[in-house]
Amino acid sequence: MRVFLATTNPGKLSELKKGLRPLGWTFVTPGELPYTPPEETGMSFEDNAMLKAASAARQTGLPSLADDSGLEVDALGGEPGVYSARFGGHTRDLDRNLYLLERLKGVPLEERTARFVAVLVLAYPDGHLEVYRGETEGLILEAPRGHLGFGYDPLFYVPEAGRTFAEMLPGEKARYSHRGKALRALREAWAHGPPPREIKPME
Ligand code: IMP
Repeated sequence: MRVFLATTNPGKLSELKKGLRPLGWTFVTPGELPYTPPEETGMSFEDNAMLKAASAARQTGLPSLADDSGLEVDALGGEPGVYSARFGGHTRDLDRNLYLLERLKGVPLEERTARFVAVLVLAYPDGHLEVYRGETEGLILEAPRGHLGFGYDPLFYVPEAGRTFAEMLPGEKARYSHRGKALRALREAWAHGPPPREIKPME
């Protein structure tokens, strides 16, 4: 199957391609086809992932996969959430990380609990959607650790693994990460080919 990957984020693209490799799909990426990302006006990761995937499927005529993801920090009432890509109005990873540290100044480690959420939506040109979700619990450190990955990875410590996402090689991050879990759910659903479409009762 030819699938359009509806993201321009290089970190996401590389994780999605690796995670989907066992399915043997061919990937088409923005730049190869005319595609304008829609405005992310949704109030949830699900809404935004659906918006992006459905818009991409309409524009490209291909089954399209979108990832909407972000960080929910408990001490900030769930911020930045769906606004993770533009937290504090910042567009660069480094500035967003510094802003997050600033917002959490003085909050002790045990209260710096957070989770990463990823929602993957595979949308078909006929309007059908598949939705997969993954979450990972962690702590926001007081200083960055590690140089791998992207985004908030250097600040996100996974107690179960004893390291931050930025200290994990791609395979290890995939084992623990929100996106890795959502990709696992997708791969399981596709283990025997396209998952059956739910048949809705007639109204
Ligand atoms: P969006 O899904 O395009 O709205 O952007 C999500 C934002 O959340 C990204 O730009 C990153 O800043 C952050 N994010 C999502 N997934 C990860 C991850 O795996 N590691 C680090 N940051 C992430």
